[in-house]
Amino acid sequence: MSSAQPDWKVQLFKLNFDESEIEAVVETLRSGWITMGQRTLDFEAAFAKELGHGSRCLAVSNGTAALHVAVLALGITTGDEVIVPSLTFIADINSVKVSGGVPVLADVISMADWSMDPADIEKKITPRTKAIMVVHYAGYSCAMDEIVSICKRHKLALIEDCAHAPGGDYKGQKLGTFGDVSAWSFFTNKNISVGEGGMVVVRTEALYQKCKNLRSHGMTVASFDRMKGRASTYDVLEAGLNYRMDEMHSSLGLVQLEKLPAANARRGELTARYFTHLDKIKEISVPFRHYDRGTPTWHIMPILLNNGIDRQGIIEAMKNDGVQTSIHYPAIQDFTAYRECAGEVPQAREICRRELTLPLFPTMTDAQVDLVCDSLARAVLPKI
Ligand SMILES: Cc1ncc(COP(=O)(O)O)c(C=O)c1O
Repeated sequence: MSSAQPDWKVQLFKLNFDESEIEAVVETLRSGWITMGQRTLDFEAAFAKELGHGSRCLAVSNGTAALHVAVLALGITTGDEVIVPSLTFIADINSVKVSGGVPVLADVISMADWSMDPADIEKKITPRTKAIMVVHYAGYSCAMDEIVSICKRHKLALIEDCAHAPGGDYKGQKLGTFGDVSAWSFFTNKNISVGEGGMVVVRTEALYQKCKNLRSHGMTVASFDRMKGRASTYDVLEAGLNYRMDEMHSSLGLVQLEKLPAANARRGELTARYFTHLDKIKEISVPFRHYDRGTPTWHIMPILLNNGIDRQGIIEAMKNDGVQTSIHYPAIQDFTAYRECAGEVPQAREICRRELTLPLFPTMTDAQVDLVCDSLARAVLPKI
């Protein structure tokens, strides 16, 4: 089997790492303490400060763990329905399903605004609905005023999947501060990258304790406390898991959090340059082109190919030009495990068929944006 990789001129994503990340990890390794300890506490505190709104943070091993903790902490169990996004990564739907819940898909607002549609969410509420889970797709906020008000009216819990959203806001309020629980991912390609990592954010003492128990075996004491001489024994308060973050990942998180404002600002500049070029290509359209709900995080650069354009052909043509592309996301109901998933979502299904993601990362150059757009413009031209 060949391990040769295509010689990309523009990769889909590149790490925004320099010597600071390397030094942070080396320093951690030299410190003699590598499992959850002071660096994790510092990362949680810095994240909480950044979010404000009385946020309390618990670092976890990845974004899926964060979602699982969120679902379990809210007591979602067998037969409980949770309204979930249809244009998202499968972890959202899986986290409900593995907890015994029933995911019910909600559609997007329109072919131009791909956020979850509050009207469709409300239509799908039944007496069995326990919670609504939203995702701020690509870092563009959902319509939070409407969604929070639906949750209040129907007495439903709200989970925010903020995997795409570090640093973003809705009308000035930080994303991740609207839900009962918000779940974050720091996977490699995210706006904060640590390899594998995540965060659970809550605002009440009760939920904080519940999530803390779920993160670490329900134990009252961690190894770090024992090392500090603070305790020699422990109690187990309730059943829990091991979803802890280690010190190497937390030290990366601290460096990445500091870089976030500049990195997001650069993503914003690159997106604006993309918009200028893409507006001239009539075979495609760009979602969120007139977005006005707050500051996005520009996590990815999705476009919509016109109906009838051969997506696979475009992917191949761009690959031949050295440009890597991707798809965010395949339709949930096309996956074997979710063929029978509840919730009609015609617009999302159409988007999943025609979406293409162009490269976007903070160290990308203007010339690379130009190259991607030239390649796309050639690829979409009708072949005669
Ligand atoms: C929207 C969304 N939710 C959840 C996840 C799961 O996060 P992780 O890969 O850290 O488990 C991801 C990314 O991978 C994601 O993009």
